[in-house]
Amino acid sequence: MKDMYILGIESSCDETSFSIIKNGREEISTVISSQIDIHKDYGGVVPEIASRNHVKNVTIVLEECLSKANMTMDDIDGIAVTYGPGLIGSLLVGLVAAKTLSFIYNKPLIPVNHIAGHIYANSLVEELKFPLLAVVVSGGHTELIMMEEHYKFKKLGSTLDDAIGECYDKVARVIGLEYPGGPKLDKLAKEGKYTYNLPIPKQDNSYDFSFSGLKSAVINLAHNEEQRGNELRKADLAMSFQKVAVQEIINKTEKAIKDFNIENVIVAGGVAANSFIREEMNNLCGKLNVKLSIPPMKYCTDNGAMIGAAGYFAYKDGRIADLQLNAISQDELV
Ligand code: KG4
Ligand code: ZN
Repeated sequence: MKDMYILGIESSCDETSFSIIKNGREEISTVISSQIDIHKDYGGVVPEIASRNHVKNVTIVLEECLSKANMTMDDIDGIAVTYGPGLIGSLLVGLVAAKTLSFIYNKPLIPVNHIAGHIYANSLVEELKFPLLAVVVSGGHTELIMMEEHYKFKKLGSTLDDAIGECYDKVARVIGLEYPGGPKLDKLAKEGKYTYNLPIPKQDNSYDFSFSGLKSAVINLAHNEEQRGNELRKADLAMSFQKVAVQEIINKTEKAIKDFNIENVIVAGGVAANSFIREEMNNLCGKLNVKLSIPPMKYCTDNGAMIGAAGYFAYKDGRIADLQLNAISQDELV
């Protein structure tokens, strides 16, 4: 069978990224332009600024990606693009680029859901095994997705309020860590102990999550300590928060593994970089004798490679869009 080269385009948040992926498994070249340094002054991503920077970056990143691969658009067989979920202005920039390239070069336009991209990041490392459970933990998502075959997704549950990464970033901010605070909180927690008594999120039989109560409890605790003139034990608070938050994810993952005889657990999204979640997932999957896959860090945060990988399998599933394809800020993975 002829090799298939997909151009993957990602612009759903603050990374402009293009990548060329061969047969859904092999990375030929990837270029990522991150805007973290621009947004950190504001303590989070400012949507309007993000879109403007995508506009500035988009052609430069495309050209660099092609030249790194020593390829031209003629060598590309399909154009995969994140159409949602994400920031609408940001998504539109990548989408317009993809549609334009598809039209000019007469290549199929392949719509990719951002979460599918996070899951398929693992396909760049090894073959996916089914039934599979994807634990998607990122700045914008906390979802448990089950797959019994390629490109067939069943959402088991998701967060009802804050995403886990968002929660990490907000707690980090209260502790005084710079945006994005998740990785810094992870580091700080290593020096701390589980001493603060924080509320355990409501336990129920569903696969849904709720982190806003935990987040508010941390914010209130920090304010109360400040008002009383007590010193906040920042490392202990970081550890206490992450222990409660991660345990909640572990509990629901364990339930899903048992309920659906899962063979392969994939932890995907930016928070998959968290050392504590990695350790706890390792323990859980070891205990239940399930294969655990966590893509390397470069594939965990947003990138075009994961979109190119997912795009290949989406194409095989017959998912081709026309030029009417629009960006959707809150898309469900189906
Ligand atoms: O997947 P991603 O790049 O963006 C979304 O698609 O949402 O994830 C970014 C998130 C941020 O909230 C960041 O703080 C978090 O991932 N993150 C971490 C760690 N590294 C990144 N959170 C906790 N511990 C880490 N080591
Ligand atoms: Zn993401």
